[in-house]
Amino acid sequence: MNSKEEISVISNSTIYNVEAIRNDFPILQTTVHDNPLVYLDNAATTQKPISVIKEAQKYYSTMNSNIHRGVHALSQVATEAYETARIKIKKFINALGKNEIIFTKGTTESINLVAQSYVRPNLQAGDEVIISQMEHHSNIVPWQLACKEKNAKLKIIPIDDNGDLIFKDFEKLITDRTKFVSVVYASNSLGTINPVKKIIDLAHQNNIPVMLDAAQAVNHLPVDVQDLDCDFLAFSGHKLYGPTGIGILYGKVNLLDSMPPYQGGGDMISKVTFKETTYNELPHKFEAGTPNIAGAIGLGEAIDYISKVGIENISFHEMNLLEYATEAVSDIPSLKIIGTSKEKVSVLSFVLDDVHPHDIGTFLDFEGVAIRTGHHCTQPVMDRYNIPATSRASFAMYNTKAEINVLVNGLKKIIGVFG
Ligand code: ALA
Repeated sequence: MNSKEEISVISNSTIYNVEAIRNDFPILQTTVHDNPLVYLDNAATTQKPISVIKEAQKYYSTMNSNIHRGVHALSQVATEAYETARIKIKKFINALGKNEIIFTKGTTESINLVAQSYVRPNLQAGDEVIISQMEHHSNIVPWQLACKEKNAKLKIIPIDDNGDLIFKDFEKLITDRTKFVSVVYASNSLGTINPVKKIIDLAHQNNIPVMLDAAQAVNHLPVDVQDLDCDFLAFSGHKLYGPTGIGILYGKVNLLDSMPPYQGGGDMISKVTFKETTYNELPHKFEAGTPNIAGAIGLGEAIDYISKVGIENISFHEMNLLEYATEAVSDIPSLKIIGTSKEKVSVLSFVLDDVHPHDIGTFLDFEGVAIRTGHHCTQPVMDRYNIPATSRASFAMYNTKAEINVLVNGLKKIIGVFG
């Protein structure tokens, strides 16, 4: 670690101590192939601070029991911890009420829930749903399934060479048959931050509800659902320094109230008879079965950790890293960045002439550097650029410029070997 990097000044009043942050993440102290781990695959999943790991362990070692079901002490404590996590998430995204926060398995399940319980029942043959060309497969396939069944049309907002949405084409796509818009807030494979407020405003002028896939946004930017005025928003815990298998669906209360349950089972009911079943109130109507209790509690702890560091400070640090990395690779003539929008989260996707991304990933792995290579579950983005895959380095709150130097030196070695 370059000692100058350990502490950087963000503003007159804020000091960002990246070394102290790194010390909170046990995995960052490990080695891979005898090299210090340089973890740059944060868009796939982030590492977890010790407080999150301990919180999940604390649940299993001191309060393991089922929630909302028992009068005994353990169940009461576990229920309290689970519901406290919900309140932390409500505050984190500034939802109006905690009944607007549904625990799911992750972004994918959240989007499927809305596609099946809100959009599908409201779609008629000939209706339209709009998404964009830069969506993750999990914000494409659920809409294809619903549209196919109802004989509705899925329309796509195109992107330009920089990886920006072509807004005037979005305007043109809207018709009186448009029933729903679902777009990604920040792209996982390009990094582009979309003008989501503008998209929501225009859709609302046409009475069209909007869902945001915020999986790659909530970890980088302050997100305020009331300010955005989005109708639904989805994200995953594991990209937010929390556990895997837990995610969030935010929905406006009147919309969630109007929707049928997504899955049937325990906890989502009010009364069951063979003649008729009535459903529990929000948010429990959408949380059938025993949930990922430790995951929810761990996610609450992750949000506490992020709040302690400050999401604006994280954002500032990551933007410095992105700028540094973009500049550092600019003197590699055979490297082309895919995704050059002016508004980006800390994602650097690139291709190298004559070297397949999988070879890049494998070579870097031997240097201890973890990046993701492939289509990043965005095959239409790869088609747009006429490439099979990219290499992607993605930066988080604990990454350093010294680590970016390791990446860039690795790339230069690869060019020496393959070039
Ligand atoms: N969606 C995750 C990624 O971008 C898995 O890598």
